[in-house]
Amino acid sequence: MDRFISQAGLGSRTEARSWIGAGRVTVNGKKIQTPDVWVDPEHDRVAVDGRPLRSSAKLYLLLYKPKGYLTTYKDPEGRRTIYDLLGGIPERVFPAGRLDQDTTGLLILSNDGEFTDYITNPDSKVPKTYLVKSSQRLSDEQLDQLRQGVVLSDGPTRPALVNRVRDSEKYTFFEITITEGRNRQVRRMVEALGAKVLKLVRTKIGNIEIGSLEIGKHRELTLEEVKGLVI
Ligand code: URA
Repeated sequence: MDRFISQAGLGSRTEARSWIGAGRVTVNGKKIQTPDVWVDPEHDRVAVDGRPLRSSAKLYLLLYKPKGYLTTYKDPEGRRTIYDLLGGIPERVFPAGRLDQDTTGLLILSNDGEFTDYITNPDSKVPKTYLVKSSQRLSDEQLDQLRQGVVLSDGPTRPALVNRVRDSEKYTFFEITITEGRNRQVRRMVEALGAKVLKLVRTKIGNIEIGSLEIGKHRELTLEEVKGLVI
């Protein structure tokens, strides 16, 4: 049932399970208490908060997020959100993971909850690549630490791919590819070395790169890109 709701584009499976637990989901007018209910989409009427589900066309978007936008639907303080950049999108789409307010770069959004869950689930190991400017020059040993994994408050990080791009007098620019996606992970990894992240850009998700997408703009993913991400 949670899968059915998420496929209808209402939210992730986790959200759907919490709605079921909260008694907000009905099948043929009867409240259900557990996600283990099978439905026949042709004949059963499923509703959330009394509103019937309709199946909607799947939409897969790629947004080049600028700095200063929150990855959230509504901000109680009225700050700008990524949805301010998506005017004109008829469907409610959900981000596959978050980028911090000050992080720029690629964000995938979709109304296909199963797809966004897959991208964000660490078990799927979808690689995400970031370009980082650190507040100090980092030694080869420090970059090796990032490669091998550093210990964060929520446990050690998985091995990562790290390439030094260049050093300036004060800073190191490097690329890092991680397969998790914990909260503020790259910033915290660099902090574990005693430095700070001054600039963070997500340049790649799986095989999808920024390419010619302009900052603040979005485009639909091609079918090949969608398929390439989930195998
Ligand atoms: N890691 C971070 O620290 N921040 C992001 O926005 C994404 C990954």
